[in-house]
This record gives sequence, C-alpha cells and structure tokens, in this order.
Amino acid sequence: MLDKFPLKTLEEIAARVGTPVYVYSADVLLRQVRAYRRAFPEALICYAMKANPSGGVCRLLARSGLGADVVSGGELFRALRAGFPPGRIVFSGVGKTREELDFALAKKVLLINVESAQELEALEAVARRRGVMARVSVRINPDIDPRTHKFISTGKSGSKFGVSFSEAEVLFRRAAASSYLFPSGAHIHLGSQIHSAGPYAQAARAMAAFVRRLASAGIKLSYVDMGGGWGAREGAEMAPPAALARALAPAASLPGTRLIIEPGRSIAAPAGLLLTRVLYMKKSGRKDFLVADAAMNDLVRPAFYGSRHPIVPLRPRAAPAGSFAVVGPVCETGDFIGTDVAMRRPEPGDLLAVMSAGAYGMSMSSNYNSRPRAAEVLVTGRAWKVVRRRESRLDLVRQEC
Ligand code: LLP
Repeated sequence: MLDKFPLKTLEEIAARVGTPVYVYSADVLLRQVRAYRRAFPEALICYAMKANPSGGVCRLLARSGLGADVVSGGELFRALRAGFPPGRIVFSGVGKTREELDFALAKKVLLINVESAQELEALEAVARRRGVMARVSVRINPDIDPRTHKFISTGKSGSKFGVSFSEAEVLFRRAAASSYLFPSGAHIHLGSQIHSAGPYAQAARAMAAFVRRLASAGIKLSYVDMGGGWGAREGAEMAPPAALARALAPAASLPGTRLIIEPGRSIAAPAGLLLTRVLYMKKSGRKDFLVADAAMNDLVRPAFYGSRHPIVPLRPRAAPAGSFAVVGPVCETGDFIGTDVAMRRPEPGDLLAVMSAGAYGMSMSSNYNSRPRAAEVLVTGRAWKVVRRRESRLDLVRQEC
C-alpha cells in the first residue's frame, strides 16, 4: 500500500520535518489527472480546491492544465495564486457574500454558480455596480439520492444546495432579461464519495432534458457542470473515471455546450498520507490503545464521518498481530484516527502511515487543543520538499490582539 511512497524518503521526512506530517506524491497526483484526462478528453476538469488547497499541490495541478472549482473568496485567492487561469475557475457555494461575488467578477472567473433567487439578485447588483456582465450558472438540486454519508449528500431535495429544475428555469429567464447577467451554464453536484455511476447517469439525463428545453425557449447555455464526488475508497484505487464518463455522456454530448467536472477527492486522496509516530501503548479494559502524535485536529474524517483510513506501520515488527484503537492526544473520547486497526504490535517511536489522507485531511484540520497544524511535504520521485512549514506555538497566538 505504501509502494507509491519510497520508505527511505518517508523516514527521512519524519526525521527531518518531524511528525505528524502530511506527505503528498506528485507522481500519484499527476497519474490521477491523466486518468481523468483520458476519460474526459473534451471536458474542462476543475479540481475542487476544498479537497486540498495546499499551494504545492495546486501549483502542480494548475501546471498540468486543470481548472479549479472554488467555494470561497479564500479558495479563489489561493487558486489564482497557484496559477489557475481565471478563465478556468468556477465559483460555487450556497452563501457567497457580495464581497466574494465582487472579487470573482473583478478576477473574471469563468462562471459563478448561483444557488438561490436572492443570490442572483445580489450578483446582478454587484455586476451593475461594476458595469460588467456576470456569466451565471444556476446550481440545480435534481432531487437524486447519491447514496452516500448524509453529511456529504447534496443533491436531494431538502438539502440546502441549489434550486429545483422549475425554479432554475425561472432564474435563467430572469438572468436572460437582465443587462448584467448572462446565462452561461447549469450545475449539479450530487454529493461526495459516490461509488456508483447510476446517480450520475440519472442526473445527466435530467440535465440534458432541461438544457434542451431551455434552448428551445431561446436560452442557450455554453457549459454543463456535473460537479464532483466520484468516490475514492480509503486505501483502494479510484474506480475508473471511464465509468463516470459513460454515465455523463448525455450531458457531455449536448450541441454547443462544454462539459465541466469538479473532482476533488479522487485526485487528491490517494496521493497523500499522514505520517505519525507512536507515542505510547496502553490498555483500557480489554482495549489495546495506541496513542499517536496525530489527532482529530489533524485528520477529523474518522471522528466526523466514521471513515476508515488504513493505518500501516512503516516497518512492521516481527511481533504478534493485534487489534488497536489508534488515538491522538486530543482530550476527547471521540478523538480517534482508527478503531479496530489490525497490525503487528508496534512500539513507541515507530512510524505509522495513515493512508488516503490527501483529500479533506489538512484542509479540514484545526488548532483544537492549541495544537499547531502539521507540516506538508511534496514528494517528486525521490526528491521531496516542505510545501508548508509546521506551525509554531507563536503561530497559535499571532492573530490575537
Ligand atoms: N463540487 C462541489 C460543488 C462540491 O461541493 C464538492 C465537494 C466537490 C465538487 C468535490 O467533491 P469530491 O470530488 O471531492 O468528492 N469533507 C468531506 C467531503 C465534503 C465534500 C464537499 N463538496 C469528506 O471528508 O469526506
């Protein structure tokens, strides 16, 4: 499982940079990009920055020709800084402020995905003040169940995201009648960690029918954005994106429109691991605990979504196998990186790799328990470099006044 990460390199990183540390493989990132490019030769692939907005990762992805999907002014700032051209950036999100909308217009992003009638009004007002035309895309909630964790399911009616097809039609007509809004695209994002193509096929058919109906009413869109969410099981290879491409074919083959997709996790997750060191071993009741130096503030996914990231010792010892609760130093019983993790009994000081941690790992990290955030390292072949320094204790109080 560690084959993409040279063992000696990981040990050297742990020794020189310390732990916990996120380690990303440039080779795996680019391999994932190639897989998407092969499956979607014509589409605009906008990497969802939220998965991993680290400059080192994003600069590489921008250079490889991807666009970016951003959901805040902060992500837009990072995307531009990493070198994503504004003409390949789409801006989504249910609560964009006027300031953020204005920033996006100033930077001339490709599309702004609006999610409500009031947001459309706000965008028009901001565009009028600037004297520009905003290229609008409407996010549609198609009421399709993507069969994923409820926290990351977005395309079912009753979630806060998007508007129904019928409301979208009203918004497109409203935009078409405005001198400051230009209806450019339609957007659907069903959710995240979706493992079957079925929901995408259903969404693509519904989207295609909708876009055709709009065109016959005189509103011709240039982009159809089918979002991200293609699953990447922890510790496993991503399902081939060719299956996703087949499912999206109805939306991809509309005349005069270009398909956009917004994969995040499936590009970044397999390319990253979290390296942590065993601090202590202890028993409580019948449970074997392994206290590591990484905690829920570094990787919250196991505690928050119940995700199971494989945890593997870098150098397994010739000791009996056991089943361990891998926990961190944070003062909560909910602070765990893994439960029932099978491995040969390690010893304090041993290094463990928490796999498939390249997406929604560092990007969801926090300073809880006043723990400075981990460092990030990018590995290219046998070379590596720190792309984000470990935070210091002083960093914890730097913004206080
Ligand atoms: N596009 C939009 C509009 C999104 O909201 C998202 C993810 C994506 C694209 C990318 O989805 P992906 O391909 O990465 O699945 N923190 C959660 C995942 C939240 C996803 C939110 N939206 C986790 O750790 O599982």
